[in-house]
Amino acid sequence: MKVTVVGAGAVGASCAEYIAIKDFADEVVLIDIKEGFAEGKAMDLMQCASLNGFDSKITGTTNDYSKTAGSDVAVITSGIPRKPGMTREELIGINAGIVKSVSENLIKYSPNVVLIVVSNPMDTMAYLAHKATGLPKNRIIGMGGALDSARFKFRLAEAIGCPISDIDGMVVGGHSDVGMVPLIGAATRNSIKVSEFLSEERMQQVVEDTKVGGATLTKLLGTSAWYAPGAAVSEMVKAVALDSKKMFPCSALLDGEYGLNNLSIGVPCIIGKNGIEKIVEVKLSEAEMTKLHTSAEGVKKTNALLD
Ligand code: 2OP
Repeated sequence: MKVTVVGAGAVGASCAEYIAIKDFADEVVLIDIKEGFAEGKAMDLMQCASLNGFDSKITGTTNDYSKTAGSDVAVITSGIPRKPGMTREELIGINAGIVKSVSENLIKYSPNVVLIVVSNPMDTMAYLAHKATGLPKNRIIGMGGALDSARFKFRLAEAIGCPISDIDGMVVGGHSDVGMVPLIGAATRNSIKVSEFLSEERMQQVVEDTKVGGATLTKLLGTSAWYAPGAAVSEMVKAVALDSKKMFPCSALLDGEYGLNNLSIGVPCIIGKNGIEKIVEVKLSEAEMTKLHTSAEGVKKTNALLD
C-alpha cells in the first residue's frame, strides 16, 4: 500500500505522521515544492519509527512526481491555509491552480489512484479535481465532514460533560463556516438522543460552535488547524487501504442524490478500496434538507469562480 501526501506543511506532515503511526501503509511519500522541506519532514518522521513503533517507510521529494508513481491513495493538502478573519472560499484564487496541477501530475504516475482532497475551499477543490483529471467519480473524495464531525462530537461531549467516545454525530453539507449542517437531531450519547441531555438552546450553540470550529482555531493559532485535519484524513486513507467499508461524511460528486447535481458536497459515504463505494441517502428532516440545499447553493457559487 503506497500513499502520497502532497504538501509537507502542518496538515500534510500530521497526516503522514498519523498514517505511519497507524502502520497500515508500506510506503508514504511526502512531496512539496519547497527545496528539501518534504525530505526533512520525512527524515524527522522516520526518526520516530523506533519510538512510535511503526514500520511504514516515509520518504520525501522536492516536486519529483515520479517518486509518487504507483500510489494507491494520494492526499492533496497543498496550497495556502487561511489567516484569521478569512473564509476558506477566499483561498480559491491561489489554491485552484495548485490543486489542478497537482491532480494532473498525480494521475500521470498513478492512474489508478484514489484522490483525497483537503485543500480549501475543499468542496470546490474536489470538484476541480474531477474536472481536471476525469477520474471515475468514486475515486475523488473531499475531506471535510470527517473533520467537522470530530469537532461536532467534541462540542457535544463538552456540553454534556461526557467522554467523547460516548458520542456519535455527523456533519453534512459544505465544509464552510456557514454551509455546514450538523445533524443534531440524529446525534446520540450511547444511542440516546442528545436532546435527552441538552436544552434546545444548548444544542443550537453546539451547532454554531461546530460550524465555526475551523475559524475558532485559526483565530487562536494565526493559521489553519492541522492535528485534527491530519487525523481525519488519515482515517479515510486507512479505510481505503483496508477496504473497511466505513461510513464517513465526505465531499462526493452528486448526480441526483439528495436532489443535487453537478457539485461535490458533504454527504454520508461508504469508503473502501474503490474510494467512495456508495453514497448513502439517509432520511433528512425537511429543515435539514433545506439547509443542505442552501449549502449546495453556496458551494455552486464558489464553483462558478473557477475559470
Ligand atoms: C479546517 O477546518 C483546514 O478547513 C480545515 O481546519
